[in-house]
Amino acid sequence: MGGTLIIDRAQFIQTAKASTGGEDVIAVVKNNAYNHGLEFSVSAFLEAGIHSFATTSMDEARTIREMAPDAMIFLMNPTYDFESVRSNDFHITLPSLEYYYKYREELTGISVHLEYAGLFNRSGFEDASEMVEVINDNCALPPYNRADMAGVWTHFGYADELDMEEYEVERKMWLDLLSEVMATGRHFKYIHAQNSASFARDGLLGGHTHLRLGIALYGSRPYASLPASDYVQSMTLKASIVQLRNLSASQKCGYGGSYCPERDTMIAVVDIGYGDGILRKRAAFDCLINGRRYPIKALMMSHMIVEVDDEVTMEDEVILYGSDLRIDKFTALGVGANSEQLGALNYNSLKKVILNDTRIYQ
Ligand SMILES: Cc1ncc(COP(=O)(O)O)c(C=O)c1O
Repeated sequence: MGGTLIIDRAQFIQTAKASTGGEDVIAVVKNNAYNHGLEFSVSAFLEAGIHSFATTSMDEARTIREMAPDAMIFLMNPTYDFESVRSNDFHITLPSLEYYYKYREELTGISVHLEYAGLFNRSGFEDASEMVEVINDNCALPPYNRADMAGVWTHFGYADELDMEEYEVERKMWLDLLSEVMATGRHFKYIHAQNSASFARDGLLGGHTHLRLGIALYGSRPYASLPASDYVQSMTLKASIVQLRNLSASQKCGYGGSYCPERDTMIAVVDIGYGDGILRKRAAFDCLINGRRYPIKALMMSHMIVEVDDEVTMEDEVILYGSDLRIDKFTALGVGANSEQLGALNYNSLKKVILNDTRIYQ
C-alpha cells in the first residue's frame, strides 16, 4: 500500500486565498503541484480565484489547458515545441538574445515573457540592453510577424535566505533593470518576480502585476519566523501498522541489523518507506500515534520500524506529516526545503484521499 496522502480541499482553498493577500497570483503548479496533485490543485486554485498558472512541463500545461480554457498558462522552461504552444495559447519564457534571434520566425503571434537572469542566473537575459534590443527589434517587424511581448519576469533565489544580503542585491538589480525596460514605453500585461518568501518580506513590489507563488499556496511558511497560523497546512500523510512485534534486548531487525533495541521493546512495522517519499532525514525525527510521539528507528524502502509501547494497537494510524507535524517545522530542523520534502513524495505509491470536496460530480 504505502501510506495515504490526505488533503482537506476546503482548507486548501482557504489557505490559497489567504496566501495571495488579495493580489493577482500566478500559481506555480510544477512537479504535480508540489505533489498535491495537478488536477486537484488547479481545480482548487480556480475556485480560490486564481486563473494564472506556471509550470516547467508541457504535459502539465496541456492538462491545465483542458481544465481551464481561459487561464493564462506560463511555461517557465525554454520551449521549442512552438506548434503546441500556439495551439494551446501558452505563454512562454523568452530566455536569451540567442534564443530570440534563432526562433524569431517561430515566435510570431506567441505570447512571450522576457526573463532576467539576475543573481539566481538559471536562465534569462544578462541585462536591460539585451531586453531593450529584443523589444525594439520585435517592434520593427511587420505586425503580423511579431511576437506578443506579454510579460517580463525574474526569479529571486535568495528571498528565503534571511541571514544573507543577496536578496536585497538581486531585488535592486531587478528593479533597476525593470525601470530601464519600462522606459521603452512598452506596456506589459504580466510583470512578475516574487515567490512566497519575497512576497512575505515585501508585499507586492511597485509596478508588478502578479505574484508567482508556490509553497505558500500549499500551506508552508517560506521561512520559519513567519506565523504558522498564516499558512495552514491542509495535507496529512499517514500510514498503517502492518505488525506489532516484541523484540528482546539486542535482538536485531532490519537490513544489516540496522535496529538493535537496548532493552525488551515493542516495535510497530509501518507500511511506508523511502520508496513512498519519506526522506532519511525526516526519519531521524518522531512520528505521531494517537497524539503521542514515537521515534522512528529504521527506514526501509516500503517500511519503517517505530519504537512503540503497549498503548499502540494495530488499528492505530501513524502520522508522518499533519497539522501537528508541519512540513515547514521539519525544514527548520534541517530535513530539507519544504519543496524538497513535498517533491520526494511518491504520488504513485500513495493512496489519495480528498476531504471536504464540495464539487458536484455527474
Ligand atoms: C521560477 C519559479 N518561480 C516561482 C517559484 C515559487 O517559489 P516558492 O515555492 O518559494 O513560492 C518557483 C519554485 O521553485 C520557481 O522555480
